[in-house]
Amino acid sequence: MNDMDALKDSALERIAAAQDGGTLEELRIEFLGKQGSVSVLLKTLGAMTPDQRQSEGPKIQGLRSAVADALAARKQALDNAGLEQRLASEVLDLSLPAPESPRGTVHPVSQVMDELAEIFADLGFEVKTGPEIEDDWHNFTALNMPESHPARAMHDTFYFPDHDAQGRRMLLRTHTSPVQIRTMVSEGAPVRIIAPGRVYRSDSDATHTPMFHQVEGLVIDKGIHLGHLKWTLETFLKAFFERDDIVLRLRPSYFPFTEPSVEVDVGFAIENGRRVLGGSGDAPGHAWMELLGSGMVNARVLEFAGLDPAEWQGFAFGVGVDRLAMLKYGMDDLRAFFDGDVRWLEHYGFSPFDQPTLSAGVGARA
Ligand code: DAH
Repeated sequence: MNDMDALKDSALERIAAAQDGGTLEELRIEFLGKQGSVSVLLKTLGAMTPDQRQSEGPKIQGLRSAVADALAARKQALDNAGLEQRLASEVLDLSLPAPESPRGTVHPVSQVMDELAEIFADLGFEVKTGPEIEDDWHNFTALNMPESHPARAMHDTFYFPDHDAQGRRMLLRTHTSPVQIRTMVSEGAPVRIIAPGRVYRSDSDATHTPMFHQVEGLVIDKGIHLGHLKWTLETFLKAFFERDDIVLRLRPSYFPFTEPSVEVDVGFAIENGRRVLGGSGDAPGHAWMELLGSGMVNARVLEFAGLDPAEWQGFAFGVGVDRLAMLKYGMDDLRAFFDGDVRWLEHYGFSPFDQPTLSAGVGARA
């Protein structure tokens, strides 16, 4: 057996024994690389006489293709084996019974936001969002709270050290009201939106957490008046609490961004130690509870947002989402909302298969 046969036997044997792509690549370089043993043999053809070349050429070329074919075949075999192994280890037995209960639950805040979106979508409202990292123009100035306004101090704002390109102070938004401004500026009028989301204030006790949730409502159109606001809130609260006897009381109040401003109270009674909404707060055994802030959008806010107050009017409202969840589902400590305790989530969470819909009941219990 000559050298070439020996080289071929040993090459094919080692290629067949390779167990992974890395080894195979090393072998390819050893035989077919620039300095590879087969490549070196090929180069000797140049120095041969035509007769020698005629007899040796096919042998060397044959060796080269035998090695190249063996490498390709082995690579294919290794790839197939890898795939087989993965397929074997990733079997999914579709005949297995489903786990007894789904593991995750939908957080009450997400559930309530979905309920709100469903109720307001039915009234023709679109859902909008805005950035949680805001600037003080959108969060305060354009909402008619100039630099010196006392309401700014009341918001316990988390400020960033930075200013944006326009020199505006950056902060964590203290309410969802800046989404009113962003929507009017980018889309003009008319507007019919709700804007749910996270808001931040430096405050913490059983009913306050540094991060909490609000939903903002804004309607801008022609000829909008307080009656539209009252009807909208009543319709929303009846659908949300799933009772027809919700009674509202509008009380004069003050917010810089609305004029007039009203605070909306809702009648409730205590049942089994829990506040249950329904009935007039003036009825026996009942009382009023403050639920949300609202009013007619201040003309100055419309001007800041680039709308002509002589042409457009509107109403706005803002309400705590966590508060709505607590009232509807009976939790009494807000902090537990954000502890991530699995037992709490299992108890108060909702089935992911139970999407709120108006036809099935927005609050179908898990
Ligand atoms: N932004 C107010 C707050 O966080 C809530 C609010 C009151 C929103 C009145 C409104 C409104 O849109 O009209 O305290």
